[in-house]
Amino acid sequence: MKAVHITRSGGPEVLQLQETPTPVPEADQVLIKVKAAGVNRSDVITRQNTDTYGKGTGDNLIPGLEVSGMITAVGDRVTDKQVGDAVCALIASGGYAEYVAVDSSHCLPVPEGISLTDAAAIPETVFTVWFNVFHLGKLQPGEKLLIHGGTSGIGTMGLQMAKAWGCTVYTTAGSDAKIAFLNSMHLGKVINYKKEAFEEVWKAEKIDVILDMVGGDYTQKNLAILNKKGRLLYINGMKSTEVTIDLRTIMSKNLTLTGSFLKPQSAEVKTRIAQDVEEHIWPLFHAKQIHPVIYKTFPLEEAADAHRLMESGEHIGKILLTLD
Ligand SMILES: NC(=O)c1ccc[n+]([C@@H]2O[C@H](COP(=O)([O-])OP(=O)(O)OC[C@H]3O[C@@H](n4cnc5c(N)ncnc54)[C@H](OP(=O)(O)O)[C@@H]3O)[C@@H](O)[C@H]2O)c1
Repeated sequence: MKAVHITRSGGPEVLQLQETPTPVPEADQVLIKVKAAGVNRSDVITRQNTDTYGKGTGDNLIPGLEVSGMITAVGDRVTDKQVGDAVCALIASGGYAEYVAVDSSHCLPVPEGISLTDAAAIPETVFTVWFNVFHLGKLQPGEKLLIHGGTSGIGTMGLQMAKAWGCTVYTTAGSDAKIAFLNSMHLGKVINYKKEAFEEVWKAEKIDVILDMVGGDYTQKNLAILNKKGRLLYINGMKSTEVTIDLRTIMSKNLTLTGSFLKPQSAEVKTRIAQDVEEHIWPLFHAKQIHPVIYKTFPLEEAADAHRLMESGEHIGKILLTLD
């Protein structure tokens, strides 16, 4: 089969389409003929740091954390999926390929009303938001949630999920075009962080939960605007992962500071997340309360251009790679 490989650490040009053996599903896995693969910020970071993240994989590291497609084979122990099922799936790597083998329990049916291609934009965002905001952060209907980076793949999905959950949502973005988009989607209270200081504008809002991927000096500002018993959740620290905070802010308001990486979670944890999102979030897709926001699709062989677009930061929502 054809797959895009990270041939060495470097810029987008190190992504090369090459022939590679088609994976064979293990007993608890299914083989998916990929229709589309989501491009994530994490793929860019992996590509830039293959010497760290790709140890032992030689030139065989195929990026890609999520796909959609049709099941073409099932392992001996698989009873919940069949050949011909249309699914989307969370995977640890290998999505930029014609075929991928994945644990059956990490596949979910394509939600009603969502195209097979667009479904590739769902797993990474929904799993990440569920695990952090709803599981670790215990977001409750009626609470206030701030997600920084509102037009990221994570932001566009997380804000919709929380709004449909009955929460008041707040978000930040860095350009007027992005602000206009978020307003057109009615995704809560929005500010351009390049023009206004969120910690001033929302000083009195008493936010219950914050999902942040910025880190750095945002951390103390986030803590400062949290309500009593507020929860601050980290999924990245794009500005900096080394921060200075005043512990008195945490102690005086009984705050919780936590976060996670989805990729290294155990198969069991990912299975549990899949079960939870199918129960609680899939009905929101069926009711048309939420949908993935797709900015642009590229053919698989143009993966380097897809990475260039992601690095430009101009996208709103998700970037996908598609296969015929
Ligand atoms: N921990 C996990 O398991 C996990 C899983 C998935 C994603 N993530 C992380 O979540 C983030 C979003 O992922 P994605 O794939 O959706 O990426 P993405 O679409 O490229 O989004 C990145 C976002 O970060 C915002 N941003 C960058 N610098 C900022 C700053 N200084 N202040 C405020 N916002 C800033 C950008 O918005 P502006 O252009 O408006 O600045 C953009 O919306 C990434 O950092 C990714 O690594 C973590």
